[in-house]
Amino acid sequence: MTSALRANKLAKTFRKPFMGTRVEAVKGVSFVVETGEVFGYIGPNGAGKTTSIKMIVGLIFPTSGTASIFGTRAPSPEAMSRVGFLPENPYIYPYLTPREFVSMCARLSGVSSSDLSRKVERVIDRVGMTEAIDRPVQALSKGMTQRVGLASALVHDPDLLILDEPMSGLDPIGRKDVRDLILDERARGKTVFFSTHILSDVETLCDRVCILKKGEVAVSGKLDELLANTSRVVEIALDGVSAQLRGKLSERGWSGKSMGDHFVLEVPAGPVVREVISAAYESEAAVVSVTPKRETLEKIFSRTL
Ligand SMILES: Nc1ncnc2c1ncn2[C@@H]1O[C@H](COP(=O)(O)OP(=O)(O)OP(=O)(O)O)[C@@H](O)[C@H]1O
Ligand SMILES: [Mg+2]
Repeated sequence: MTSALRANKLAKTFRKPFMGTRVEAVKGVSFVVETGEVFGYIGPNGAGKTTSIKMIVGLIFPTSGTASIFGTRAPSPEAMSRVGFLPENPYIYPYLTPREFVSMCARLSGVSSSDLSRKVERVIDRVGMTEAIDRPVQALSKGMTQRVGLASALVHDPDLLILDEPMSGLDPIGRKDVRDLILDERARGKTVFFSTHILSDVETLCDRVCILKKGEVAVSGKLDELLANTSRVVEIALDGVSAQLRGKLSERGWSGKSMGDHFVLEVPAGPVVREVISAAYESEAAVVSVTPKRETLEKIFSRTL
């Protein structure tokens, strides 16, 4: 099956002509988003996420490198007709209402007049904006404006959604709505590529991730594999721990947190777990729980940077 999106050594250097300064915002970034996947594009502020996205959708020219969408060179009209795009800070004409703005976007995307008003109303309902459908956009809050931006990205039922920080400005319910919407799109066979700073959203939504660092890919791959390859730890909670046992454990380098005679420690998965449990039994402490813990994306992220 053709990949939904391919970035091939995309690079962008911004130059200030008179000052002679250069910013190498993106330095040869390559990744592949397979059809039907949810792909998370993450990295700290200034890592080059928005610049890469702008090159893919044709808002700026790459200094070098190419992108393709469903096998077609992007940003050709043919490739872009299959894309719904939400920019980082969507600009929505302030004197239009959500109904008017989304209708305009639908017309520009080739939605036929016969279907137009039904499709616009349905998509505005999907992003939870029905109540404000006829209010001028300038009277909407930041999160509501973000929702209208999402509606305009979705109205022509694109095969690939490219969303630059779709959860930005949304309240917790709004964020959940967007997460559900992304999962709905995937269930319908659509592909979603989004950038974000919210790592827990990436962990719950994404099949594949790419971590960008100073314009370069630092880590990329299937989320399951990235998390599985990390060193696993096991949390052991003990009750009735004597000072002697605590001393014995810390002598072996296994220190933890204690509250009275309750003691919780994290050790590497493997034979150490058995050793700690044996030591606990020998000194008549009770083993309350033994919980394998997977490393979080946040840990991988902070180790990468
Ligand atoms: N038009 C421009 N002219 C000069 N430098 C630019 C321009 N646009 C972006 N940059 C620089 O390129 C780098 C990458 O910026 P970019 O907006 O792509 O980061 P980002 O990963 O999207 O960050 P954030 O998480 O804050 O949105 C930054 O150093 C930024 O200052
Ligand atoms: Mg950005």
